[in-house]
Parts: sequence; structure tokens; C-alpha cells
Amino acid sequence: MKRDEIINGFEKKAENLLSMLHEIQDSKEEHYLDKEDLIAASDYLGLPYSFVHGVATFYTMYSLKPRGKYIVRICQSPPCHLMGSTTISKELMKVLGVKFGETTEDKLFTLEMSSCLGVCGVAPAMMINDRVYGNLNPEKIKEIIEQLRREK
Ligand code: FES
Repeated sequence: MKRDEIINGFEKKAENLLSMLHEIQDSKEEHYLDKEDLIAASDYLGLPYSFVHGVATFYTMYSLKPRGKYIVRICQSPPCHLMGSTTISKELMKVLGVKFGETTEDKLFTLEMSSCLGVCGVAPAMMINDRVYGNLNPEKIKEIIEQLRREK
């Protein structure tokens, strides 16, 4: 869906800003918001551009720079940490060949940290775009990433 269609689907209320930015970002293969997106949201909702920009930079779920097709978010909160998220993080960095905050050269994966994903019962956990993966171990990481590489 194009940006204008997304924006016009919302009521002109300030409280729609977060959802609007989220939908715009998700509609783009590179999962990010550019200046035109922020201006369009600001104009439509009648909010100052500086406010919209502030919101987009405050929340880690938004990115102002292009990211990969798959956003890999590994949970770093205490329950996942206790269950081995450090090992999972190391495996992800090894398999993807990037550090946290970086995107693979083929623009397929961006690796990010996350706080609790709300699925502590299956710790350690991660999310790739909207899908949650739990009970992770290094072998599972390799399989998941290989599968996504095949699907690209
Ligand atoms: S602490 Fe990792 S999902 Fe809750």
C-alpha cells in the first residue's frame, strides 16, 4: 500500500501517529521512514514536524535509515538473558556476519536488540519481522536464517 493510502485510512487524530508511522514503515521493503513520510504524517495530523521527528527517533521500533528485508530482534531482557540470549546473539552475529545495528551486504537482514517480546515462557526468544521464534539454540538459529535465505 502506498503512503498516502495508509495515511488517509486514519482519522486525523494525534493519537494515530504511532500506528500510522508503524504502517508506513512496514509497507516498505527497507523498513524505514524517510523525511517525506514524516512530513506527510505531520501535515495530515496537523502536528509539528519536529514533534513527529522526535517520536520517530525516540522509539527504537522506528528507523530513519534503510534496513534489511528481515528485521531480526533478539530479546535481551533478564529472563531471556538467563536462558542464554548471549549465546544466541553471538550465533546470530556469526551466521549473519554483522554486529547489532548493522544490515547484511545483501540487504536481507538487519540485526537489532529488543526488550521483552512478551513470550518469556519460550525464552530465549527473537522476532523476525512479525513472527516470534522461541526456545532458541544455535542450531535453530542456523536453520531459521538458512530457510529465510532460501525464501528470499
Ligand atoms: S524476556 Fe525475552 S521474551 Fe520476555
